[in-house]
Amino acid sequence: MKNHKTIVLSNQEVSPGYFRMRILAPDYTRLARPGQFVMFRVQRALLPLLRRPFGIFRAGFMPADCDTMPPKEFIEIIYKVVGSGTEIMQGLHYGDPVELLGPLGSGFDLNLTSGDSILVGGGIGLVPLYMLAESIAEPSRAEVLIGGRCRDDIITVTEFERLGVRTFVSTEDGSLGDRGLVTKVLEQRMEQKPQAKVFACGPMPMIRAVEKICRDKGVHLQVSMEELMACGVGACLGCVVKGEGHTTEKPSYLCTCTVGPVFNASDLAW
Ligand code: FES
Repeated sequence: MKNHKTIVLSNQEVSPGYFRMRILAPDYTRLARPGQFVMFRVQRALLPLLRRPFGIFRAGFMPADCDTMPPKEFIEIIYKVVGSGTEIMQGLHYGDPVELLGPLGSGFDLNLTSGDSILVGGGIGLVPLYMLAESIAEPSRAEVLIGGRCRDDIITVTEFERLGVRTFVSTEDGSLGDRGLVTKVLEQRMEQKPQAKVFACGPMPMIRAVEKICRDKGVHLQVSMEELMACGVGACLGCVVKGEGHTTEKPSYLCTCTVGPVFNASDLAW
């Protein structure tokens, strides 16, 4: 984990209300694992100073500008504009100073991706699944189920397709892909691939539904939890979730930022 004072390389709206920001991030292609996140802070006077957590969408290199300039190493985050912090973020441009603390947290267990895998992403929850899909040795055995309320929530489909993974899109209002919840698609795909391991990230109602489906079928599930995080390093305890076996007499709490954000579903209390 490092704290980088760095700059924004680009910041573009990719769907109404969704932005994709590329940030100069030395060492991240070597250090970042699928499922990890960064704490991001805008460095500008008179702006809110709180760090905010963002899953890493991908890490890569931009080509060198000329013979003397080395390639630029970057990460990308994707965010939805939902409040004052993300409203400030959408106004950032090339060269604006920002701070990155990371990479943080645990990642997905790549040993589980041999064989069939089903990745389930709801809305912005799709973000940490891209690096996971990139890391799968046999992409043709992986499927990505992408769900949202409407077509605006469906992002980066072609990039997943370019990896060679099969994609299924669903929206609650039927404006893109199948009409209905992504969990309905999951049930259908699990009938075709009963041995598949499942990896999921998205809003809590979706995660709870995915957990129930997988538990009922005895399928291994890893979830990336989207808890609110203030510090990102285990200091504030603002991100705890209940561990498996939690009771009032014998409480069990796990920090999402240090033990997670990726957990085996069986390690959590539902
Ligand atoms: Fe502070 Fe996890 S965000 S302990």
